[in-house]
Order: sequence, then structure tokens, then C-alpha cells
Amino acid sequence: MQQRDLLFDIWGKLYPGISTRILDNFLLTIEVNRNANIPDNEQVDWYKDAVVYSLYADLFNHDFTGITQKLDYLHELGVNCLWLLPVLDSPMRDAGFDISDYYSIRAELAGTEGADKQAVFSSFLAEAHSRGIRVIFDIAMNHTSDEHHWFLEARKSKDNPYRNYYIWSKDETLYDKARIIFKGIEKSNWEPCGDEFYYHRFFNFQPDLNYKNPLVLMAMCRSLLFWQNIGVDGFRVDAIPYIWKEEGTECENLPQAHMLVKFFRALLDYIKPGSLLLAEACQQPAKVVEYMGDGDECHAAYHFPLMPRIFKSIAQQSGTPIEETLSKAFTPELPASGQWFTFLRCHDELSLELVYVTEEERRYIHQQYCLKPEWDFRLGEGISARLSELMQRDERRILLAYSIILTLPGTPVIYYGDEFGKLNDEGYYNEMIHLTGKDDTRFLVRGKIDWDKLSQNLEDPGSFSSQIFNKLKLMLHVRNQHKTFGRGSIEFITLPGALNGNLLSFIRTFGTDKWLIIHNMTDKAIKINLPPIAAGCINVFDNNSPAVLEPYGFNWLKIS
Ligand code: GLC
Repeated sequence: MQQRDLLFDIWGKLYPGISTRILDNFLLTIEVNRNANIPDNEQVDWYKDAVVYSLYADLFNHDFTGITQKLDYLHELGVNCLWLLPVLDSPMRDAGFDISDYYSIRAELAGTEGADKQAVFSSFLAEAHSRGIRVIFDIAMNHTSDEHHWFLEARKSKDNPYRNYYIWSKDETLYDKARIIFKGIEKSNWEPCGDEFYYHRFFNFQPDLNYKNPLVLMAMCRSLLFWQNIGVDGFRVDAIPYIWKEEGTECENLPQAHMLVKFFRALLDYIKPGSLLLAEACQQPAKVVEYMGDGDECHAAYHFPLMPRIFKSIAQQSGTPIEETLSKAFTPELPASGQWFTFLRCHDELSLELVYVTEEERRYIHQQYCLKPEWDFRLGEGISARLSELMQRDERRILLAYSIILTLPGTPVIYYGDEFGKLNDEGYYNEMIHLTGKDDTRFLVRGKIDWDKLSQNLEDPGSFSSQIFNKLKLMLHVRNQHKTFGRGSIEFITLPGALNGNLLSFIRTFGTDKWLIIHNMTDKAIKINLPPIAAGCINVFDNNSPAVLEPYGFNWLKIS
């Protein structure tokens, strides 16, 4: 079915009985942006070869001019896609996931006062693109800020035209099967306002949008197309499982949520294929895969459980939890165009939601890694700490974790600062909880980069920062020369004589390119016996054929 027909088809399913005139008019207004030059396949699935770096524009380096100045640093590191954490107008009570204007970059990110925000952003985009770096950003679609003008209008009266952009109820019993996501911070999904309550799945200052009203869908589509037209290469689709609510259900992963995603995808493809939709669905892989549909929903999605299982594997000194997580029984096949996005750390906590880890695992990982009670988030269901803090500043374990994430299937995402071992930032956390009035420990893992200090550290090859940065850079450069890591198949193997799980070994293959990757998960040196297929092969990092792998060591061997 052509995208245009698809849009009408989905409309009919989502909004039976509602005239398609709204959609007709909407499509008329956007026709003008259609791009006749449909990119070839290579460009359309660019995300499979990406190395993503996620950052807060202001905390990374003040503003877009500041980021532009650091594009060479990122390029040199081996990054080819930036994921900008929220940059749109916001009162910043949830680090920008509380959007108050979907069309405007925050003024402070434009640099000097009065600067043309859009022009500054466009020039940053052009600079990034000229270095082969794509740019995606966050659009929170499930909710707005309570300072968005739709909500300011909606709360004025029950007959305000914007009232129906949000979800209202006389009491708090509606949707009461939906869990509370920010456990320990929010007590209810409803907030009193006048003589009614409005619904919010996250903070009480983030009212959920009502997609049962087709005008909301049209408004969100318009903002996606606006940024697509400016040149943004894709969007992280925040909190997608919760976007549609139905009484009597848990209000997660409902069929209509998928229809909305199909609608967004068909629309973006109609204008310009290759604009990435990346699903943030904190669910089991079997559920997440559904957000890639038959290649007609999101292009890619985060593999959430892989992240805590990597931490579990490192704590247990065994690759088994990782291998089990990636087994077909747990991680289903993706549609041909689909891709996992993998990560060690992100702007949120190390999340241990019981949706995808067992209670036993939650307790174990929390005990092993929540080294200070202040790091706890969501009453034991998360840990707010940077990668180096979690690894107790042990560069061997940090690099082991990086080698794992860079060689397993998927597109890796590096969280800003983690490339040089940035630590938790208590000063920033204290400042932010004071400003937001919520004890959100995730602010510990945010915070500014001190570039002067960093460049001093990077000049000293023996410093902790250099140790991590330089080795990570080397790994990224090898990875970037071989599409195998982003696109190839994986086969886990046991090396001759290896004990259960102490070596995490696998073969990655793409066409004729073949690699054997070996990780020593333990704190003891291990004698290596290569399988016949890799006899005599050498480790790309030191040109030696491995005899012994140091504690937490790893080797990447090119077989063919
Ligand atoms: C996503 C973001 C998180 C934010 C939440 C609500 O989960 O990753 O940082 O708080 O959505 O928008």
C-alpha cells in the first residue's frame, strides 16, 4: 500500500466515524515539502552503521556554537550520529522532556541573546552533516509540559477548545490498572486541577496528551515534519508504550499505540524515507520488537534488558547472562530493516524495572552496584550512577564493558562524558533538585564537562581519562571500518578448554568478513586455546596471536 493510502487506512482504524477531511487538509498543506530525491537503500538504513553519542547540548558545551566547536573531537572519537537530548523550549523540570513549544529551540542554546535560534541550529546541522555526522533528537510525544500553551488553555475551562488535548476525569479511578512509573516520587497518575483531575504517566507537571482526539495526532505530526524539513535525521520516540490509554488495561503497548507509530512512520516516509524513528520502549524484547512492526513502525529500538545483564555478567564474572539475553528464546529476530540500539549508560538511571529483570536480578544488581544509598532511584528499581562510578573507576572493567557493547549486534550509544570516565556530579544534582523541587537522583549522572580539565587530562597518556578515551577511540575506529559489527550475524562459541561463562566468545560474520571476539569476564588471567577456524589469527589491538588473556582482557581477531 502506498504511504498515502496507508495513512487513510490507519486513520479509519484509529478514528472510526471521524471524517477524513482533517487528514485531507493536513496532507494538502504538507505536499509542498515532499522530496523528489528518494535516497537509495544505503542511506535509508544508515542507522545500522551508526555510532551514536547522546548529549545535553548545554551541559556538553554551553550551546550549539559550543557543540559545533567540538564536532572534530567527536568525529575523531569515531562518532557519526548525535542524539541530542531535549533541546526544545521547556521549563526544564524533567531535563527538557517537559516540552512547552515543539517548534522552538531553547533560547539559551542559541548562544548570544537575540541570536536567530533557527539559524544557529541550522548552521550546527550543516556543520555536523559536512563531517558525516547525523543528528537525531528527542520529541516527547506522550506528554507536554504543564506550561505548554495547549495545557494553559485546557485548564482554563471545560469548554476550552484545547480541553480535549488532555485527559480529564472527575475521580482517580479511571485507568487505575496503569502502574506508577516514577515510584517513590509520584503517588498517583492523576493530578487535581479545578474540580477535575488530569492524567500524567510521569511527573505531575507533564500532562499526558489525548491521542483519541485526532487534532493531537495532527499537531504532533506537524512538529515532526517541521524538524524533518529543517534537516534533522530522526527522532527518539520517548515513552511510546504509554501513548494510548484504555480503561481496564495496563495502558501499555495497546494496539492503538502501534497504529500511531505506523502513522508517524508512514508520514515521515511519505515525505523523506530514512528519517529514523527510535523507540524508547522499556519492555521485554518480545514486546519491543513489535515497535518495529513488519518494518513499518520504528526503524530501531533500545535493547533495555541487555544493559543490566551486561552489568550482571561483569559482576558474576560470567558471560552467560549476556548469551542468554541474546538467545532467540529471549531476543526475537528483527524485521530486515530493524536494528537494536545498545548502551551501557544513558541520561537515565541504570534501570532495573521489573518489566524486564526478575526480582532476584534486581536485588543482585542493586546490591552489587548501588554503592551509595544516594544513588538509588525509584525505590530500588534503579541506580543513578555513571559508568565509571559503577565500575569503581576500574578502567579494565570499563573497557571490557565497552568492548562488549561495541562487538555485540546493534548500534551502540555512548553517553556523553563516559568516553573519558566522567564521574557523578553531586554539585549539579544539588542545584537541580533545588530548582525542580523533585528528588530526582538522575541529575547525578548529568552535569557539565570541564573542557580545560579534560584537555589537560587527555594530554597525559597515563591519566584515567586518557586510558579510557584512547582505547575506546581505537575500538571505535576498528568498528567503523567493518560493517560486520552493526550488520553481521553472531554465533556464541566455547573455546577449547574454557570453563562455563568465564570467556564470552563469539563469531561475527557479514559477507566474507569474519571476526572472533573473546572477552575474559574474570579477574584472573586465562590461557587461550583458539578454535581451528581462528588458528594463528592475531588480535587487532596488538598484532599478537593470543596465548593468555589478562584479567578483564579482550581480543578482536580477524578471521577472514
Ligand atoms: C523517558 C526519558 C526520561 C523522562 C521520561 C519522561 O523515559 O528517558 O528521562 O523522564 O521519558 O519524559
